[in-house]
Amino acid sequence: TVANLKGLKQGQLRLAVITTAKYIIPRLLGPFCQLYPGIDISLQVTNHEMILDRMMSNLDDLYIMSQIPDHFDVNFQPFLENPLVVFAPANHPLAQEKNIPIERLGEEAFIMREPGSGTRSAVQSVFEEYGVKVKVKLELGSNEAIKQAIAGGLGISILSRHTLLGDAAEFSILDVQHFPIKRTWYMVYPAGKQLSIIGQTYYQYLLDAAQKITEQGGLIPDHNYSLITPHP
Ligand code: PGA
Repeated sequence: TVANLKGLKQGQLRLAVITTAKYIIPRLLGPFCQLYPGIDISLQVTNHEMILDRMMSNLDDLYIMSQIPDHFDVNFQPFLENPLVVFAPANHPLAQEKNIPIERLGEEAFIMREPGSGTRSAVQSVFEEYGVKVKVKLELGSNEAIKQAIAGGLGISILSRHTLLGDAAEFSILDVQHFPIKRTWYMVYPAGKQLSIIGQTYYQYLLDAAQKITEQGGLIPDHNYSLITPHP
């Protein structure tokens, strides 16, 4: 309708996504913004707990996160896979080994995400499940900072495989039993909240993009995802 079209001509889209989604969401915004140049976008990138806080305060239109809130009623839709893998420097002694027992990780210096991180809680529950004790040498509040610390030889860590998009050559992904930890990104918004027209359009756009990415075999390093064009 005319009203719908007007609604799409200008307005604001407020997004908040967990840290691992920053490797893909900004790229997917490009074609969307070209199609709807009057829409201003704000994108917050933060950890799981901060996303929950933002959702409770109703600060954004749409959220991307890997763990559905327990105590808050939401609409959610799986978006893309978000596997967690064991990162080590490219020249790490374990890089050539196959089927490394998970307990072996206990002998390495480990770099852990900050409290409040969804990656951290997923890693901790897997370690708990298999009775693995790791030596946390360093705690860091950023995936990028952790990658730099790994490259600098400070230790190993467990991160979303998507944090590799862009610079795979410096790292090896260790072949450890029970890995990757399977996780999924979800598109989420509070139940009972009516998405704006812009919000609905972006939601549908992300769904289409996710389907195309999945058909092409998933997220691949150095692929130009801005080539994925939205339906008008
Ligand atoms: P995080 O989120 O930034 O809170 O670790 C990533 C995730 O939950 O997948």
